[in-house]
Amino acid sequence: MNFGTLAYGCWRFAGNSMEEADRLIRTALDAGITLIDTADIYGFGEPRGFGGAEVVLGEVLAADPSLRERMVLTTKGGIIPPRPYDSSHDYLMGALDASLDRLGVDQVDLYQIHRPDLTTPMRDLAQTLDAMVASEKVGAVGVSNFTPAQTRALAAHMSAPIATLQPEFSVLHQDPITDGTLDLAQEIGATVLAWSPLGGGKLFTEDGPVQRSVAKIGRETGYSATQIALAFARGHGAVVVPIIGTQTPERIIESANKATLTARQFYDIVEAYRGEAMP
Ligand SMILES: NC(=O)c1ccc[n+]([C@@H]2O[C@H](COP(=O)([O-])OP(=O)(O)OC[C@H]3O[C@@H](n4cnc5c(N)ncnc54)[C@H](OP(=O)(O)O)[C@@H]3O)[C@@H](O)[C@H]2O)c1
Repeated sequence: MNFGTLAYGCWRFAGNSMEEADRLIRTALDAGITLIDTADIYGFGEPRGFGGAEVVLGEVLAADPSLRERMVLTTKGGIIPPRPYDSSHDYLMGALDASLDRLGVDQVDLYQIHRPDLTTPMRDLAQTLDAMVASEKVGAVGVSNFTPAQTRALAAHMSAPIATLQPEFSVLHQDPITDGTLDLAQEIGATVLAWSPLGGGKLFTEDGPVQRSVAKIGRETGYSATQIALAFARGHGAVVVPIIGTQTPERIIESANKATLTARQFYDIVEAYRGEAMP
């Protein structure tokens, strides 16, 4: 499956009117972004509540069904407060149907387990994910916030491939480089969907060595901090697709205008994060 080079995420999306949501989705698609990432939990704690982001995306799709054909649509399930996580077969099968219902679609291209449920055996989760693929309600499956060991344990029991890993990964959160996540993705041929690739906005609201390193590269290259941070995520040898979450159409367009970094600039950001030169 082709996930493109940049994705648009709906975590901050549930507060939009249908018209605002339509503008954001259309801006993303027109800018060449195809992967739209949402989750059933997005909207929880806000006026629309659990499922809210899927509901508003469903309204956008209902108003113009041709948009569905232009996107690679993915949602996530498995977080259910206050339990807080449930990866049991009956729960996830019901959660998938509820997501499809809210989105108003027969199928999502990718379904991801949002967080690992420590109480569900990986063998059982593997059977559930295989059953989802066999049902043709999902095109592919993936996991989010799993440790590499959890992903490997799951993969050992699955027939379908694990198509995506979705960790937090950015200039400000580089753990996936060292915790094995980006290496495992290459081992099993999974695409990495990097969440909060601008540090959830901390790239702009906080100051530190990483922000200063990004600013310096910006002065050298003329690229914006956003473009440099997205290029950093894609600069690793793994296949990484950053998922941006801005609610500003102009920033979606800015993000879609790609920068490329030299290897030296990539390592400058790694060294700024580590506080020391590479050995
Ligand atoms: N799997 C998971 O557990 C998980 C967790 C979190 C997120 N995600 C996914 O990742 C997606 C992206 O997450 P995210 O929204 O945290 O990503 P992000 O793109 O790193 O951060 C977006 C935030 O940065 C702000 N921002 C962007 N450009 C800015 C600028 N030039 N100046 C100041 N602020 C700026 C945005 O504000 P404006 O809206 O004002 O532009 C927004 O608040 C989510 O939608 C979701 O799909 C997944």
